[in-house]
Amino acid sequence: MNNEPSSDKPWAGRFHEPTDAFVEAFTASVGFDHRLYRYDIEGSIAHATMLARQGILTTEERDLIVDGLIRIRERIEAGGFEWSIPLEDVHMNIEAALTRDIGDTGKKLHTGRSRNDQVATDVRLYLRAEIDTIRVEIGRLQGAILELAEREVESVMPGFTHLQVAQPITFGHHLMAWFEMLQRDRERLADCRRRVDILPLGAAALAGTTYPIDRHYTAELLGFAHPAENSLDAVSDRDFIVEFSAAAAILMMHLSRFSEELILWSSAQFGFVELSDAFCTGSSIMPQKKNPDVPELVRGKAGRIFGHLMGLLTLMKGQPLAYNRDNQEDKEPLFDTVDNLKGSLKVFTDMMGALRCNPERMRATARQGFATATDLADYLVRKGIPFRDAHAIVGQAVALGIREGKDLSELSLERLRQFSADIAEDVFAVLTPDGSVAARNHIGGTAPIQVRAAIARARERMVDD
Ligand code: ARG
Repeated sequence: MNNEPSSDKPWAGRFHEPTDAFVEAFTASVGFDHRLYRYDIEGSIAHATMLARQGILTTEERDLIVDGLIRIRERIEAGGFEWSIPLEDVHMNIEAALTRDIGDTGKKLHTGRSRNDQVATDVRLYLRAEIDTIRVEIGRLQGAILELAEREVESVMPGFTHLQVAQPITFGHHLMAWFEMLQRDRERLADCRRRVDILPLGAAALAGTTYPIDRHYTAELLGFAHPAENSLDAVSDRDFIVEFSAAAAILMMHLSRFSEELILWSSAQFGFVELSDAFCTGSSIMPQKKNPDVPELVRGKAGRIFGHLMGLLTLMKGQPLAYNRDNQEDKEPLFDTVDNLKGSLKVFTDMMGALRCNPERMRATARQGFATATDLADYLVRKGIPFRDAHAIVGQAVALGIREGKDLSELSLERLRQFSADIAEDVFAVLTPDGSVAARNHIGGTAPIQVRAAIARARERMVDD
């Protein structure tokens, strides 16, 4: 980044003194907004094309401008473009370079436009593209989850409430809960995209422009659904970024919860899964350690992304209409959110693909903790005993089990019958974890047959959108 003073400042006309050097650095955004260059150039090409169609530029001027912009883009991509801090931001850097390259015609590009509608357009183009990428990344993670769920559809494990063993479930069913959360995240982003997909250009500084522009045409060129209805709103609101940030925070909350489960499950105490070595690190002092760093980091990154949401809300809350420089502060949290979201999704997908499961260990723990107590109560209800009484009877049986260190299925029929004469030999079918999961045979239930059907429906739902 170049810090040489520039004589190209397009707004310098009314100023008598140069900008204070520190203020120049303090107000500059090119250090981070240069990454919008592609969208800035795309927006400028569309703007110049529209100006020429409306007779505001000649076709020769348009061609000079468009070719010049394309050459600048090539130079940036080849690493041969020097960004200047005194030129403040990506917009003025590119415009100044254009005028240096093609002469005075370059100065006509900004006709009927302001950096206020320009920056809002750049960010919308950027975010629209990133949302599309993120939605694909979520889909890849969902695909990895579906594959694992399919493999683990019969793997019985304990389901938890309060992190205490509750009822047996299958690992496939548990994974499909993750799928559903991600499906909503993907839908939320599709919905958010509809409100990102609106063109600010033409709003100019705040009130619109006196030139006979065609905003519908510019929108069409940039693939926007339609131009923004109100020029003040178009240049000033960043609610589309706040909304994206909220959807991102919810997605990170989900990834953080999944991470927490992977961390617990890969501990010696659970032993349900093993993370591949490629996703863990060791300890410099404890030779036995294999730490689940990747899920821990994803869980940690959720914190900063929640923070960005709060930062963006606070950024907006005191701003009067229309554009204020405060808005320059929207970019770093947005870029950081996008980068970390994409990174977390990618690493999570790869980690899921390499996850080793231990179904024997899951099944063994499902037999502990009286996971089938509800099944025994339901069994008694089927024999005509009111549920509350059945609950009390099973409570006594569980107390006996605790005293003797045995699961319900390990108590003899004789012992069980001392709590209710209605208990017969067929009780053992419901006391096994497999019998328990198979009995929850309705849509949304954990029976393997239902989970298979849910996976098939999930594949169809993913094709639909
Ligand atoms: N760098 C500025 C931003 O990010 C661009 C718009 C500047 N507009 C202005 N009137 N100073 O918001």
